[in-house]
Amino acid sequence: MKQTVTLVATAAMGLEAIVGREVKALGYEDIQVENGRVLFEAPVSAIPRANLWLRTADRVKILIGKFKAYSFDELFEQTKALPWEQFITEEGEFPVTGKSVKSKLYSVPDCQSIVKKAIVERLKQKYGIASFLKETGAFYRVEVAIHKDEVRLTLDTSGSGLHKRGYRVGQGEAPLKETLAAALVQVTNWQADHPFIDPFCGSGTIAIEAALIGQNIAPGFNREFASENWEMIPRSHWDTAFEEAEDLANYDQPLEIIGSDISHDMISIAKQNAMEAGLGDLVEWKQMQVKDLHPRKDNGYLVSNPPYGERMGEREEVEEMYRDLGSIMRDYPSWSVYILTSNEKFENLYGKNATKKRKLFNGFIKTDYYQYFGRHIK
Ligand SMILES: C[S@@+](CC[C@H](N)C(=O)[O-])C[C@H]1O[C@@H](n2cnc3c(N)ncnc32)[C@H](O)[C@@H]1O
Repeated sequence: MKQTVTLVATAAMGLEAIVGREVKALGYEDIQVENGRVLFEAPVSAIPRANLWLRTADRVKILIGKFKAYSFDELFEQTKALPWEQFITEEGEFPVTGKSVKSKLYSVPDCQSIVKKAIVERLKQKYGIASFLKETGAFYRVEVAIHKDEVRLTLDTSGSGLHKRGYRVGQGEAPLKETLAAALVQVTNWQADHPFIDPFCGSGTIAIEAALIGQNIAPGFNREFASENWEMIPRSHWDTAFEEAEDLANYDQPLEIIGSDISHDMISIAKQNAMEAGLGDLVEWKQMQVKDLHPRKDNGYLVSNPPYGERMGEREEVEEMYRDLGSIMRDYPSWSVYILTSNEKFENLYGKNATKKRKLFNGFIKTDYYQYFGRHIK
């Protein structure tokens, strides 16, 4: 059985450092932060832990091999030379997905079928099978990713993307991905004993992710992972990881989190999502216009993803809203304000330059995360 593996936590552009911080917080030291991913060497038991705990990563994959290839022969031979039998069982089902960027081997379907053939040959040899592999067992998704002629072969341990926490029963038109919402909260360094509000909460993603962070609830606690029935990961590793998550959850931590939105429908969706996330009525949900926002306490955090005003006829209304928000928050200097928007005039409309800005993508939309640090009152 394998003792250590090279894991790849994939990350959306701009979130790599945050994913790296999370990996370190799990206790894995030997990490490398690259564009779109964080690599780390870890024992096999890290696979359940990383899947359960990483809030901002998209997936956790095992790096099986990395090499240069300029011809199909090279791709075949080097793929076949890798120890696939240490990962995939005799009955394992293993479809191959692929991508290729700026490489001599640009035909993705050809690369996929060559990788598939090479793994089949390797496994037949190792398992002493003369005919064909049945592929009726556990599921292993292999990926061949080629970038500038460098091939990386990985196995996906997550299954559906890690943003699928299992709590989203409803959504609005523009829900934020759970991984991005968690990153927005983590960037603020908010602590659970401070008030928190999202006044454009929509389906509640930011407030729900904040509540999970506030009570240290593992984001993957309510879902399944593709590698849960892989032979290479002893069941005891999964049991230990789930027990650890149960022990570390702090369900008694009181929270002062409010999610509000102008739409009744969105508030009822947010409530359902929070219920599904097991948060009960831990988050306070309110139907309210941003104009009526009046924080009751000091030293809070406002974290939000308001409408961007990109649609026809929406712009003026949205600009007015940004002005309203700016004039309200001027009266609450102890509050920190964090706004994600693609609207380049945001600082002007809000009436103040941000202390800090961070470029992030919300799906394909280029946005800035405007950060205003509050002056906490002692
Ligand atoms: C981009 S969506 C937020 C999506 C949310 N982050 C999620 O994950 O579902 C913006 C939200 O702002 C709300 N909204 C629009 N105008 C508003 C106003 N004047 N006051 C409060 N909420 C408003 C919309 O109803 C919508 O749900």
